[in-house]
Amino acid sequence: MMLPYSKQSIDQRDIDAVVDVLKSNWLTTGPVVGQFEEAVAHYVSADHAVAFSNGTAALHAAVSTCGILPGDEVIVPAITFVATANAVVYCGGTPVFADVNPRTLLLDPQDVVRKISSKTRAIIAMDYAGQTCDYPQLKQIANQNGLKLLADGCHSIGAASFGRHVPEWVDAACYSFHPVKPMTTCEGGMVVTGDQQLNEQLRKFRNHGISTDHHQRARKGTCFYDMDSLGFNYRLSDVQCALGLAQLQRLPEWTRQRAAVAQSYRSHFRQLDYLKPLDTVPGAGHAHHLFVVRWSEEKSGVSRDDVIRALREAGIFANVHYRPVYQHSFYQERTKRLRLLRCPNADAVYPEIISLPMFPAMTEGDVKQVVGTLQAIVESAERERWNKVA
Ligand SMILES: Cc1ncc(COP(=O)(O)O)c(C=O)c1O
Repeated sequence: MMLPYSKQSIDQRDIDAVVDVLKSNWLTTGPVVGQFEEAVAHYVSADHAVAFSNGTAALHAAVSTCGILPGDEVIVPAITFVATANAVVYCGGTPVFADVNPRTLLLDPQDVVRKISSKTRAIIAMDYAGQTCDYPQLKQIANQNGLKLLADGCHSIGAASFGRHVPEWVDAACYSFHPVKPMTTCEGGMVVTGDQQLNEQLRKFRNHGISTDHHQRARKGTCFYDMDSLGFNYRLSDVQCALGLAQLQRLPEWTRQRAAVAQSYRSHFRQLDYLKPLDTVPGAGHAHHLFVVRWSEEKSGVSRDDVIRALREAGIFANVHYRPVYQHSFYQERTKRLRLLRCPNADAVYPEIISLPMFPAMTEGDVKQVVGTLQAIVESAERERWNKVA
């Protein structure tokens, strides 16, 4: 039996919902898109939700409609999926990397302040592993400096932050519905916002920059349309939205199941000194998207990469989230020409992090299998060292 690091949950309700739409007249730009948008807006307490073809498109749209232009700087976390930073580059802007707290891997507000320049226009926070950032502090920093605040909530849909839903703290929040995410539409994404003007711009952006959609034109009895800005085809189909609607019904239950898996891991790991789960912050919400530990090579005698390899041989597929974005060759090349700003915590933590299997259908037996395999790997390395000495 193979244990992946993440896995979607699909049952007959999802299949039925998709089949119903396949049998209808609208495979895309039909009524189910709006129904899914309304349901997500309600779930995360936002006024507006706009569906996108994937989370990256959602981020691109959010950054662009927030007014990021060539020459502008946007502060992003050093440890995130590359899409967070790429969205800024798509708009001609420059991502400026701020360091993360080494115990949570969440954006460090103090380093955000240090990275602000006269060119900074926005901050994108990312709710790493599903735990929400310190939005009260980030909001204060954004307000004091006249910056937009965006949330990359691809790991954290539905989680609160210090008594409020994440979208209530930010100008816009973005979600991904890739199969490894908390819920799926195969590929898919969403931007939510409380700003009506942004909502309209986002809708236009995902539809080529055309100022009306075909429903509005049909109501007016006209075929005429105008493209008044440059947009993209970033639409999400009705078929995918039907899957999303069915998935959303079970998301609260899945989040509870994830929390139980996290708690079980934590209780098992209390006795082990060579790995440490990330800290949870009182007041921050958590969607438990990933279960990330910091692995000590010094204490275990096994390197992070060797432990991942050994887990894989035992049928357990761990992963690493993420290599600091500026270490990728594309950003290395660019940062030669930019202010190269160091993020020492990100550099130090990256070689230690492991994402262990985490998905709602995981059983206590699965958790014990992961824990037992990790212990066996360390014990076997220890035996090998003794054998060499003897
Ligand atoms: C933090 C983060 N941002 C953005 C994305 C991009 O989402 P998508 O894969 O749907 O384009 C992902 C998903 O991989 C992610 O984890």
